[in-house]
Amino acid sequence: MIHTDIPAIRDQFPIFAWHRQENLPFVYLDNAATTLKPTPVIEAMHDYYSNYSSNIHRGLYPIAVRASKAYEDARVKVQQFFGAAHPEEIVFTQGTTAGINLVAAAFAGGLLQPGDEILLSPMEHHANLVPWQQISAHHNLRLRFLPMDAAGNLQLDQLDTLADFPIKLIAIVHISNTLGHINDLETIIAWAKQRNIRVLVDAAQSAALYPMDVQQLGMDFLVCSGHKMYGPTGIGVLYGKKELLEQMPPYQSGGDMIKKVGLYSSTFADIPHKFEAGTPPIAAAIGLGAALDFLQTLNRPQWLTHLDQLTDYTIRQLREIPGLKIMGEAQKRSHIISFTLQDIHPHDIATFLAQEGIAIRAGHHCTQPLMQHFDTGASARASLSIYNTQEDIDALIQALHHIQSFFNS
Ligand code: ALA
Repeated sequence: MIHTDIPAIRDQFPIFAWHRQENLPFVYLDNAATTLKPTPVIEAMHDYYSNYSSNIHRGLYPIAVRASKAYEDARVKVQQFFGAAHPEEIVFTQGTTAGINLVAAAFAGGLLQPGDEILLSPMEHHANLVPWQQISAHHNLRLRFLPMDAAGNLQLDQLDTLADFPIKLIAIVHISNTLGHINDLETIIAWAKQRNIRVLVDAAQSAALYPMDVQQLGMDFLVCSGHKMYGPTGIGVLYGKKELLEQMPPYQSGGDMIKKVGLYSSTFADIPHKFEAGTPPIAAAIGLGAALDFLQTLNRPQWLTHLDQLTDYTIRQLREIPGLKIMGEAQKRSHIISFTLQDIHPHDIATFLAQEGIAIRAGHHCTQPLMQHFDTGASARASLSIYNTQEDIDALIQALHHIQSFFNS
């Protein structure tokens, strides 16, 4: 099963060599929380800090010009990665959460009217739920939720029952960070488009693995985080359609987002700079650009097949463990698997695994309403990525068998 390219991919992530050198076991299965960082990303950021560290869009000296160009080049790389029509449709943010807060404040807060509705799903990460609750409370908007079946699949055949409500925006996750279910964006966006409803896609878990062509799919906004795409923390992307970003008022204000400032009023820069107040995360943007370059060097169909096969293998092996229950029954799933094991607390599972050098996440995964849907407070979650191997999964499964027998002895 292990694809021949996987060791070569692993070699590009220095964290594996460090653990070998320290003689420490390291099975990293917490990729939904953050992915590991390959050498080209670390080197690109090191190069910026070592050789041309300066602010952007201001200085006229050589390293400032170089830094400004590297930052704007990173924007073009993101534009090309998502197939956006214009580089100015790409706003650098701090991450997915910041992107959603921006759209909540500037689109929902700035352009929607009292009584307008926002459609969400019960499987949203808190980052795609709480900002909408906050803005709705301040602007008298209303939240509505797509129905979801007992297995955790959205019931899109019931979309038409919502047709008469004044829904102006659908904000929907592409891949559930808890269940790994892949939502059918084509159907949601097509339905929304027929009704002139805007769509925001939370692509935090999918952007690196299942890149989307935003023009082909036709969503209005897409948000994601660099650190879940093999890039650094502190950088994220908001893609927004040009005409929408232009209509939206600024979100944060200050330096670098203005045209002209007077004592009592100001005019604002064109997009994307209107939404990038203050000194942005320059090194992180450059690092994200390097991460996208790194992804382009890999053979996508090959590692995607590997990841799919490894996910199937993981699920088959998990099902062999007595008392283990996988959360949800996906119509279409990805590389994230949540489970419970009898009544052993997921934190105990994660702690036991940590002692074996196996990293997973346990808890509510910032999806408390989804947990309530499944009538549980927490789960253990293993999330795979392009560098995981069958040996990683075998180590997880063996440790889970030990936990199961330990708690039953
Ligand atoms: N949202 C990230 C996760 O699901 C942090 O773990």
